[in-house]
Amino acid sequence: MTTEITPLIAGNWKMNGTSASLAEIARLAELMAQGEAPRCTVVICPPATLLAQLAGQASAAGIVSGGQDCHTAANGAHTGDISAAMLADAGAQYVIVGHSERRTNHGETDALIQQKASAALSAGLVPIICVGETEAERDAGRAIDVVTTQLSGSVPSGFASVVIAYEPVWAIGTGRTPLASDIAEMHNAIRSHLVARHGVVGSGVRILYGGSMKPSNARDILRIENVNGGLVGGASLLANDFYTIISAV
Ligand code: PGA
Repeated sequence: MTTEITPLIAGNWKMNGTSASLAEIARLAELMAQGEAPRCTVVICPPATLLAQLAGQASAAGIVSGGQDCHTAANGAHTGDISAAMLADAGAQYVIVGHSERRTNHGETDALIQQKASAALSAGLVPIICVGETEAERDAGRAIDVVTTQLSGSVPSGFASVVIAYEPVWAIGTGRTPLASDIAEMHNAIRSHLVARHGVVGSGVRILYGGSMKPSNARDILRIENVNGGLVGGASLLANDFYTIISAV
């Protein structure tokens, strides 16, 4: 891990959780209070229905909150959508944009994701911009090409702070992870791309790994060069598992 960058561990609850799940935040707060101070920023991105409640409860424990998606506009006639300003108002400091589930289920393009990231920045949120190749693209030897094209299209220029999450689509929710050497190769390629395109700001961007990160593999993944944290789905739903990953930093 690059030493001058404060790592970030973000939990993505996806479409999971009701008010009963806030007990996991209480448990996580308890574990964090008992242990050493975490060596990373800890973020939870719950469903929007829980955001305000969770943000209130979590901030006292030093846990930061985030949204899972936002609209490109600040407000308007967009039934069912949520703007970045609304997420910020509910207590969010981060927002995930361009997750592969949104790219696939909602046909989101790089151009749309770039607009969402810009909307997030305008609202004072840090966008966590997700990129990643499918299994067919990796098998065809195109993984780095695909990811750098996604970066070119979805990362806005002139940002003060963004986070990139590299999530191979085939590793999400499957229990499979790439080889450490493949993660290293990809994260180095992402770093080089960010520096070439965004200069010195690009060298400070946190690059997270996501896709089946869990207590048993977090330590090995987090020690890879240019891996500055993780975006954790399934293993973020239970406080004990998520805390083990936070402690692995
Ligand atoms: P997973 O999900 O950890 O359950 O694989 C990661 C993600 O989709 O962000």
